[in-house]
Amino acid sequence: MEQLIIEGEHPLYGEVNINGAKNAAVAIIPAAVMANGKCIIDNLPGIEDISKLVDILTKLGAKCSFDGIHRLIIDSSKIDKYKAYYDSVREIRASYYLLGSLLGRFGRAEVALPGGCNFGDRPIDQHIKGFEAMGAEVYIEHGMVKAYAPNLKGATIYLDVVSVGATINIMLAAVLAKGVTTIENAAKEPHVVDTANFLNMMGAKIKGAGTDVIRIVGVSNLEGVNYTIIPDQIEAGTYMIAGAITGGDIKINNIIPKHMEPLTAKLLEMNCKITEGDDYIRVIAPKELQSTNVKTMVYPGFPTDLQPQMTALMCASNGTSVITENVWESRFQYVNELKRLGGNINVEGRVAVIEGKAKLTGAEVKATDLRAGAALVILGLAAQGKTIINNAKFIDRGYEKIEDKLSSLGAKIIRVKK
Ligand code: UD1
Repeated sequence: MEQLIIEGEHPLYGEVNINGAKNAAVAIIPAAVMANGKCIIDNLPGIEDISKLVDILTKLGAKCSFDGIHRLIIDSSKIDKYKAYYDSVREIRASYYLLGSLLGRFGRAEVALPGGCNFGDRPIDQHIKGFEAMGAEVYIEHGMVKAYAPNLKGATIYLDVVSVGATINIMLAAVLAKGVTTIENAAKEPHVVDTANFLNMMGAKIKGAGTDVIRIVGVSNLEGVNYTIIPDQIEAGTYMIAGAITGGDIKINNIIPKHMEPLTAKLLEMNCKITEGDDYIRVIAPKELQSTNVKTMVYPGFPTDLQPQMTALMCASNGTSVITENVWESRFQYVNELKRLGGNINVEGRVAVIEGKAKLTGAEVKATDLRAGAALVILGLAAQGKTIINNAKFIDRGYEKIEDKLSSLGAKIIRVKK
């Protein structure tokens, strides 16, 4: 097991570069399965989820090679399988995007029910509803989702809930279907737009990505392309919060400031000073952070994937803060670990009430999922003394070289193998 060990109370100063977006990368790599030719994907984050996805594609018959950590060349021309089994997909939720892309390419797909972070029930009924509307037969058998559609046809699909996964998955299947597909009540997250941009560059005809109605005119062929992934909104937000909790002053480079607006607004309310340029944000922490209230929402609302990190920040602010989690039904399971570090948090259903100015002291804790792990790192940076975070591997699923980046900002953090 790997641990991160942090000696807290060292303010962060300096600059940090943000990697490409995990949630865009994990959709774009499965999308490359549909190309007739080589795709070169740049600005990939060097994280576990990417290497796992590449292993899955290789097992399907794709030729994948890395040119450095951040550039991947995928040649899908020899893919001859349409099944991805449990042993490959269990730890990576985004493997469900292979349903859409393999269905588009082969008219059939079999993918084990996805794994990923556990924060309550994570249904895929809206994905299935979309595929069925397009003429697919979909059923679940022996833990596999099996979809067959020799003649995938465009359809109008209204999503009952705004789902990033369902929006992207239906878009993937629709690009090679016959006719027009319309997705209503679609998700508008930056990674939905990035995936649509990638597909359009390959020759797809998608309009409206980034709004709640996406229209896709099916085409018969997609070409290989060279594409650069957008910066990671959640990694950037995590460092902004880390800077704020330590009383530091950091510049976060290689980002799209517009994507950070929901967080920037909250940090301003908490009294941080923020300046922005075209591709950076500087966060200057105040002497005393003020409390605030947050409700997680679909984009452009406050992202649920920054909720645990924000909870950590609220533990150190002055006054009482309230966070309401509107996306996932049980995404507060991690708070017991924050409490070990002194966090004063009470959870009632989807609402957490955080009494600020807690006396934060280091302790041994464990990461229970990716973003919960990031929240522990953040609180550990502010806590007095030593914090030991077990299960650091969870954090590696979404953060490239987190200890190196934080160390370069002045944090005292090391990784050890136990
Ligand atoms: C993606 C992100 C995840 C983030 C989430 C919400 C990836 C790989 N993961 O997950 O980090 O937390 O968006 O921003 O991009 N739902 C249904 N039926 C469905 C699908 C979803 O009821 O078929 C519900 C879910 O239970 C949840 C909500 O819709 O309450 C949002 O889920 P969704 O946007 O699909 O999340 P993911 O795509 O799995």
